[in-house]
Amino acid sequence: MEATRQAIEFFLNGKPRQMEVSPHSTVLELLRGPLALPGTKEGCAEGDCGACTVVIGEKKKKNESENIFSYRAVTSCLMLAPQLDGKHLLTIEGLAEGEHLHPIQQAILDDHATQCGFCTPGVVMSLLALFLDNPQPSQEDLLAALEGNLCRCTGYVAIKSAGEHLRTDWLLEKIKAKDLRPAYLEEVEKILGAEKEKKVLSIREGEKSFHAPRTAAQLRHLLSISDSKLLNGGTDITVAIKKHGAPIRNLIDLTSIEGMSEVRIGCEEVVIGGAATLRKVAREVEGVLPVLSEAIGKMASHQVRTLGTLAGNLANASPISDTAPLLLALGAVLHLEGPDGSRKVPLSEFYRGYKQIDLGKEEWISEIRLPLSGEKFHHFEKVSKRRALDIATVNGAISLTLDDRRILAAKVAFGGVAAVPFLAEKTSASLLGREWNLETVEFASTVALEEMRPIGDVRGSSTYRKDLIEGILIKHFLACVEEKGWEQ
Ligand SMILES: Cc1cc2nc3c(=O)[nH]c(=O)nc-3n(C[C@H](O)[C@H](O)[C@H](O)COP(=O)(O)OP(=O)(O)OC[C@H]3O[C@@H](n4cnc5c(N)ncnc54)[C@H](O)[C@@H]3O)c2cc1C
Ligand code: FES
Ligand code: FES
Repeated sequence: MEATRQAIEFFLNGKPRQMEVSPHSTVLELLRGPLALPGTKEGCAEGDCGACTVVIGEKKKKNESENIFSYRAVTSCLMLAPQLDGKHLLTIEGLAEGEHLHPIQQAILDDHATQCGFCTPGVVMSLLALFLDNPQPSQEDLLAALEGNLCRCTGYVAIKSAGEHLRTDWLLEKIKAKDLRPAYLEEVEKILGAEKEKKVLSIREGEKSFHAPRTAAQLRHLLSISDSKLLNGGTDITVAIKKHGAPIRNLIDLTSIEGMSEVRIGCEEVVIGGAATLRKVAREVEGVLPVLSEAIGKMASHQVRTLGTLAGNLANASPISDTAPLLLALGAVLHLEGPDGSRKVPLSEFYRGYKQIDLGKEEWISEIRLPLSGEKFHHFEKVSKRRALDIATVNGAISLTLDDRRILAAKVAFGGVAAVPFLAEKTSASLLGREWNLETVEFASTVALEEMRPIGDVRGSSTYRKDLIEGILIKHFLACVEEKGWEQ
């Protein structure tokens, strides 16, 4: 492979930095350690509290000649420091100008939205990303932006009201973009926009390494010479390395590979790149597959969805992955690349056993393809203890082709009921040719309970999970009644 470089180059609150970082260190460790910026707090160190939220700015190609810049809130405890390369890192220290607080900090103060102050930097950075990213934030957008920020002093009412005051002042143009955008953004955007492609980043430290290939050919070469783990958003891997001591030494980052983060909407299918983030997928498919946007909206928190990818969620092979049951019901097909070229694997054949997938050591998911059909009814349901930042006890999805109420084709899938996300083929077949009504739901439930034998664990007993299977089928039916405007 061509020459590589060891040091990352990025901007920190408007200033260029070039430094060597440890291959598996997180952005949070970098900030609170070598960079000596302790304003960003460490709470859980596994993506659950939002205290470590920072904003990442980066160049996105709009077309051949034009760039746009995106800003997203991320949990810095989950993002690896080498992934800062080529980006702009904004932290709480980069907002106030001398004695003058940034308008978001001032709103927090005016609304008494800070008590002990531990969560406050994270809250401010989440709000900053919201306003930099979204010119017309709705009340719903505001709540989604804050869903990953926990406040132990329970100051939510005040925090929400500070956000709401900012939102209305922003929409009424009492606050202008120039007040909210730190003054140095323009200059940094100019420099990053003009930046030419650099050598591939390849960092080694003892037995650990991090590589960020730019092309599929470079990725193929790296996979052939080392025993490596693919890294995308890192929301699963970073926790595995940092919290559970997973023996991972070499990481190959997919997020810099040209074209891998794209989502393309065609007439007959949606093509999702193997490094497209959950947030990007949710936004891009909203018009054609709203059910997928809604399902993604029920995952994790905003700051985790801006890092985590759809491919990572599928390849992680958790039996309670939220996207897997829906993608099974939608008939997703994975495109895999490897040393011998490419091959296609239907998602229904991808899972082979607990955490076992049909993916060779040197292969990767390059695309996820979803067929489009306007005629179908789709629904996804997740049962968890909390709305945000909680994993499912059981989740389920359905896709139906209906002729009025008669079921012509059906795919029913569940998570949390088996060792792998489960396409319930017998349950699906039992629906064919029947009228879609409560009697059919009852019949399908008996088949489903024969087909699935969920075990009990800390999140729910086997009996509870069986009840949830029935409950989810009823919810699918009720959602259909509502969508079609039927009388029950
Ligand atoms: C606080 C928190 C809350 C969460 N909540 C939820 C939730 O509600 N629902 C849910 O389903 N998940 C949840 N997750 C899990 C996680 O966010 C998702 O699984 C996410 O989609 C993983 O994507 P990633 O890009 O971060 O994967 P990574 O951590 O980068 O990788 C995960 C695995 O996939 C492999 N991989 C990644 N990309 C590819 C590719 N293109 N080809 C082949 N292999 C690949 C990696 O090698 C690794 O084995 C949560 C995680 C956290 C930290
Ligand atoms: S420290 Fe809790 S989300 Fe990062
Ligand atoms: S103000 Fe104390 S945690 Fe939020």
